[in-house]
Amino acid sequence: MSSPATAGGLAVVRTVAALRLRLRDWRADGDTVALVPTMGALHAGHAALIEAAHRAADRVVVSVFVNPTQFGANEDFAAYPRDEGRDAAFCDERGADLMFAPGVTEMYPDGFATSIRVAGLTEGLCGPFRPGHFDGVATVVAKLLIQTAPDTAVFGEKDFQQLVVVRRLARDLDLGAAILGVPTVREADGLAVSSRNAYLSADERRIAPALNAALRTTAARIAGGAPAPEACDAARQRILAAGFASVDYVSCVEEEALAPVTVFDAARPARVLAAARLGRTRLIDNVPVNP
Ligand code: PAF
Repeated sequence: MSSPATAGGLAVVRTVAALRLRLRDWRADGDTVALVPTMGALHAGHAALIEAAHRAADRVVVSVFVNPTQFGANEDFAAYPRDEGRDAAFCDERGADLMFAPGVTEMYPDGFATSIRVAGLTEGLCGPFRPGHFDGVATVVAKLLIQTAPDTAVFGEKDFQQLVVVRRLARDLDLGAAILGVPTVREADGLAVSSRNAYLSADERRIAPALNAALRTTAARIAGGAPAPEACDAARQRILAAGFASVDYVSCVEEEALAPVTVFDAARPARVLAAARLGRTRLIDNVPVNP
């Protein structure tokens, strides 16, 4: 096997075998390991994940893999931003130990036939609007967790449904990793940092923070006792009035089971989640309902 490519102090490996060799050495030294799964196009949100990974473990592995199976036929797989050199420099500057950047055939060899579905949790919210998406996420995350066997794996709260799905997957399959959620990093005007923000025109970028503003108002109304369905409906109208083309959903759900909330009960943590289209870009966001 060839020795790993390096970018500064960071090692870059492309095969599961090379990844496991590194991990074996670290484990022999008694080091703990945190995994940060990403699709590259790294930004401030990922920086927060890497920082959290450093706090959680001795060694930090960042995986960079644009996973084809989680993109629908009409989604942006081909257009998704890819710049591995930049991602490697980003990981290196933030002190990550290893970047795992497999190719598609390393992750999905010819004849690959296995898919993981987390029932229930994937059926609401983004599920109906992105058929097959969460099966693709669950399958690739299960593979990454099996390949790396980390003590901790770190995910952003921005993709809150994904975080809940991954927690359940790790529990159900006894994958052993603690799943750590990290709060969403935002621009000064409230827009959640996302790789897809790069698709927004200047006009759309001005409108985009209306999504977060509507969610914050809605969460405050629900915390104050307003019925959640009515508050979410008002948010939908507000997001459309701001200039979004359409709203897939605005929902208030319990954080663990993603069950719809009618009236908020402070004993059961809840969040307001939304997805809406601005021009051709689909944005998602969520905020907690703070009692
Ligand atoms: O959140 C992401 O970037 C992706 O969905 C993940 C978790 C890396 C799986 O491809």
